[in-house]
Amino acid sequence: MKSPFLAVYPVGDLPKVAAHEVARCLRKAVQRRGVAHMALSGGSTPRPLYRLLATPEWLAAVPWAQVHVWWADERCVPPDHHESNYGMAYSLLLGHLPVQHIHRLHGEAADPEAAARAYEDELRRVFGLGPRGRPRFDLILLGMGADGHTASLFPGTAALAVRNRLVAVGQAPQPPHCRLTLTLPVLNRAARVLFLVAGADKGPALAQVWRSAPGQAPLPAALVRPTRGSVLWLVDEAAAAAAGLKEPPITQ
Ligand code: 6PG
Repeated sequence: MKSPFLAVYPVGDLPKVAAHEVARCLRKAVQRRGVAHMALSGGSTPRPLYRLLATPEWLAAVPWAQVHVWWADERCVPPDHHESNYGMAYSLLLGHLPVQHIHRLHGEAADPEAAARAYEDELRRVFGLGPRGRPRFDLILLGMGADGHTASLFPGTAALAVRNRLVAVGQAPQPPHCRLTLTLPVLNRAARVLFLVAGADKGPALAQVWRSAPGQAPLPAALVRPTRGSVLWLVDEAAAAAAGLKEPPITQ
């Protein structure tokens, strides 16, 4: 298990650094296997990245026709709802790209458990897995909330503890409360996880992720440690300063 790596940048540079990392991961996977699988997150931090990747100069950087786009989590809302992670990614990025393989979490489903099981079935079918197989994403893009949650794995919730499913129904403290989320075992099967964190409000959680005190329960984001993969934390200066983290990049 490789140690997570943290790099600090001015907030304005974060989208470009992240875009290079996304393009590098996806190109490498397509060169090796002819296909790449990436899971996206929602929230506000990835928005500038999605906009950048949709620009003409970045369009050719990623072999999008060979990329399967999935989601790390979704709110239980329709795809055209302003809180939809799919809706946000489609409007800023996917609607501008020649992507042919989009696998949406159906947040609008009346039965979230059924939607979670349906996504599991789709993961197993597309990845060619047996009933106990776990998908290995080439890249999972994650954010972190000020409470240390990631995807829709919130501290102290049942979804965080799920180990025998690929997708779980999560509960968020803030609305929309009902979420669908990849589980920790799937996140920890990834080849590469890219955390994008910006803003001083994330400082306390970031400090706890990188310097958890003995006996302190690890935050969900700190539990993302792929067994055969790597984690890169791209953090802006405000979050790093608020967390008391300094350059040079720190590995845990
Ligand atoms: C979501 C995201 C969530 C997000 C964090 C950080 O559905 O909201 O997947 O995990 O990454 O809440 O959100 P911000 O980027 O808005 O701070």
